[in-house]
Amino acid sequence: MIDFKSIIAKNIVSIFNELNENELLEFIEVPKDKTMGDFALPCFKLAKSLKKSPQVIAEELYSKLVDNLDSNFSKIENVGGYLNFFVNSEVLVKDTFESFDEIINKEEDNNKTVVIDYSSPNIAKPFHVGHLRSTVIGGALYRIYSFLGYNVIGINHLGDYGTQFGKLIEGFKRWGNEYNLEEKPIDQLTKIYVRINELCKEDESVLEECRNNFKRLEDKEPYYVEIWEKMRELSLKEFKKVYDVLGSKFDSNNGEAFYSDKMNEVVELLEKSGQLHESQGAMVVDVDNGDSAPCIIIKSNGSTTYETRDLAAILYRARTYDYDKALYVTAYDQTLHFHQVFETSKYLGLDEKYTNGLIHVPFGMVLFNSEKMATREGNVIKLQELIEEAISRTRKIIEEKNPDLEDKEDVAKKVGVGAIIFNDLSNSRIKDENFKWETMLNFQGETGPYIQYIFVRTKSILEKAGTDFDKFEMKDVDYSLLTDKESINVIKKLTGFKEAVRNASEQNEPSIVSRYLIDLAQSFSSFYNENKIICDDEKLQNARLGLTYMVGRVLRTGANLLGIQMPDRM
Ligand code: ARG
Repeated sequence: MIDFKSIIAKNIVSIFNELNENELLEFIEVPKDKTMGDFALPCFKLAKSLKKSPQVIAEELYSKLVDNLDSNFSKIENVGGYLNFFVNSEVLVKDTFESFDEIINKEEDNNKTVVIDYSSPNIAKPFHVGHLRSTVIGGALYRIYSFLGYNVIGINHLGDYGTQFGKLIEGFKRWGNEYNLEEKPIDQLTKIYVRINELCKEDESVLEECRNNFKRLEDKEPYYVEIWEKMRELSLKEFKKVYDVLGSKFDSNNGEAFYSDKMNEVVELLEKSGQLHESQGAMVVDVDNGDSAPCIIIKSNGSTTYETRDLAAILYRARTYDYDKALYVTAYDQTLHFHQVFETSKYLGLDEKYTNGLIHVPFGMVLFNSEKMATREGNVIKLQELIEEAISRTRKIIEEKNPDLEDKEDVAKKVGVGAIIFNDLSNSRIKDENFKWETMLNFQGETGPYIQYIFVRTKSILEKAGTDFDKFEMKDVDYSLLTDKESINVIKKLTGFKEAVRNASEQNEPSIVSRYLIDLAQSFSSFYNENKIICDDEKLQNARLGLTYMVGRVLRTGANLLGIQMPDRM
């Protein structure tokens, strides 16, 4: 693919050879307003190194460039100290068609590894909508990095450790046979947990028993480990139903318990670093010279913490995966936790590469009709129920709009789930996500169903012209026939696909891809309204089909990166 930015940079260096090409590349912008050109160079950025005013620089560059205009550009302008470059659309169209494979194909392996810690629900507790975002955002990042050639390790850092398991085991011992754990394990375990908690409040000796249970579990007494394993396994089985629907993939389910025998080393290393000290009976490491709350490594009652386990996990992941980046996808209320852990990890004696690679990827809350979700026990909206509701609402819409559709069930599933995923990823992740059925299931809005609808349309246009979507032959296309404004606009969008995916990875922000897809779909929609694709001029028709095909491919590839599946019709 032609790299227009670097052509501009080279052109400029040939005039001012004291300038650095790489630095210039950073200065060249892509203006939002297309009347300002496809690329722009703000000349004030060169004023310092050239010791001239921006106006003088712009004037000089302009007069030299315009005399002998590079054939990749159709026009340059000098506006208020900015040089605006307009790409030659003939060149652009040719380049897009000829290097479409480069746009659409997965990048080659880049020998970099990124670990993504996501989803990570707590076992024996409901997988509620709070975990939806982590699963969806983390899953999108997983696919985005893979597409860019990274080696990706997805980790489900399950919350499977803690004193609550002592309680659960006690409840299980007492009343296990009263509950049908096989059928609705999490429901039943939650009931057991509530019941044992009540008993603990009434009877101190029961609480003592629970503590002992946890101790025995930590000491790996077989009976206790067995019950714990059973709870973990049953919970995972239930989580898996959600993962299957969302297409989530994990390379490891090593949760907190996995680190139970790896925390001693953390304590030893921190001790050795001289940073571990006593504070109010606990062992802690100061963070930000005491300006932030300290990182507690061992509580005053002798037990380890969520932080200690995360530190052990860092050691393990650095050694096992030799990562370049390690992402943690959680709600923003864990920001302090990760700050404490990341700062403290600097005292573990790891190579800086690993501590610098730690990135918390926080996201906002989920609001229902603009209201904060109730988290009280029993009032939690469960993810599985949400998914079912999305599907059944979509089914209803299909019944109204297109009752004769084939494979209705499959379409309802793809559209309903797609709507949930897209809604989650449509704004910057740090913003609270609003959950509103009318908005997210609107086929004409900025939604998942809209992207799917435009995709289905590209596919049916090709079929109407007698070509199978996946067998379209690009080599027969005379693309020079595409000269109108709408076609050029679509082509400009198509060339930006990889850049959008790359930006999404750099900022760990899948919404960059979802915004891009909306933009592309809308530009295709204008193209479609302005141009008759199926027409009498066979060559022109084929060129327009070529464009339609590329849009469909990019929409599908992009949506798949987000975790959205495309229906064949809708
Ligand atoms: N289980 C935790 C929760 O539900 C999230 C774990 C995130 N990952 C981590 N390495 N701390 O809040």
